[in-house]
Amino acid sequence: MPLIGTGELVAEAAAHGRGLGAFNVIQLELAQAIVAGAEAAGAAVVLQISENAVRYHGSLTAIGRATLAIAEAAAVPVAVHLDHATSAELVAEAVALGFGSVMFDASTLEYQENVRATAEVVERCHAAGCWVEAELGEVGGKDGVHAPGVRTDPGEAAEFVAATGVDALAVAVGSSHAMLTRDAALDFELIAALRATVPVPLVLHGSSGVADEHLGEAVRRGMTKVNIATHLNSVFTATVREVLAAAPVLVDTRRYLGPAREATATEVARLCGILRG
Ligand code: G3H
Ligand code: ZN
Repeated sequence: MPLIGTGELVAEAAAHGRGLGAFNVIQLELAQAIVAGAEAAGAAVVLQISENAVRYHGSLTAIGRATLAIAEAAAVPVAVHLDHATSAELVAEAVALGFGSVMFDASTLEYQENVRATAEVVERCHAAGCWVEAELGEVGGKDGVHAPGVRTDPGEAAEFVAATGVDALAVAVGSSHAMLTRDAALDFELIAALRATVPVPLVLHGSSGVADEHLGEAVRRGMTKVNIATHLNSVFTATVREVLAAAPVLVDTRRYLGPAREATATEVARLCGILRG
């Protein structure tokens, strides 16, 4: 199936009141697991690579090309997205590689500076046909800052979208990045207020910390793109631990990465079902 743009998948999900899973790829097996899970669920999916993951690999090229190849070979619609980019150079690199969308994250900057930097990136990306997500009201937890109290103001969010021309907005509504427990308290009233005020699709970050039933409710209240990373790492790593604990002399990496990939695919399929509603 040919690669599809995140914009198209998000628009389709939003039009039907469905959620769209956007899962983070760190290594090849995660990209394969996410696509296998989406295929099992018969769901479209976004494969996203964060700037942190690029730093881990040393460059976007190899992991980016591999992820694009996996997306192109999928039996369901798959988009490839650059996640949490703070560098305009990395955004340009992703666009040149063939990514159809990017998230430019200037959320740690003061409001006017965020607007200026985001608007610049949007202009360049749109000229290249690339869809842009940005963030207002930093979602807590990144770089070790656990701040579930951060909230995006609906009026400011609408103003930000108008001033920058972004295609989707990541908002702070009570979730926090990298949680290992699924007990974040989402502000559903705020999600509904943002949905009523902001003219572009909304993105929930830090969704690993959100319980299944709250993911469904967040979508019903107006969230469309739902970003999940840490939870898949937990499933993957738990399986690796289990396999290695039962086989202390095992050295063939396929013997523990394979089962971890399978367990992750099963969880992706389950999550896609919840998000679809
Ligand atoms: O951009 C990626 C997400 O916000 C993932 O957050 O690791 O808490 O699921 P998470
Ligand atoms: Zn995020």
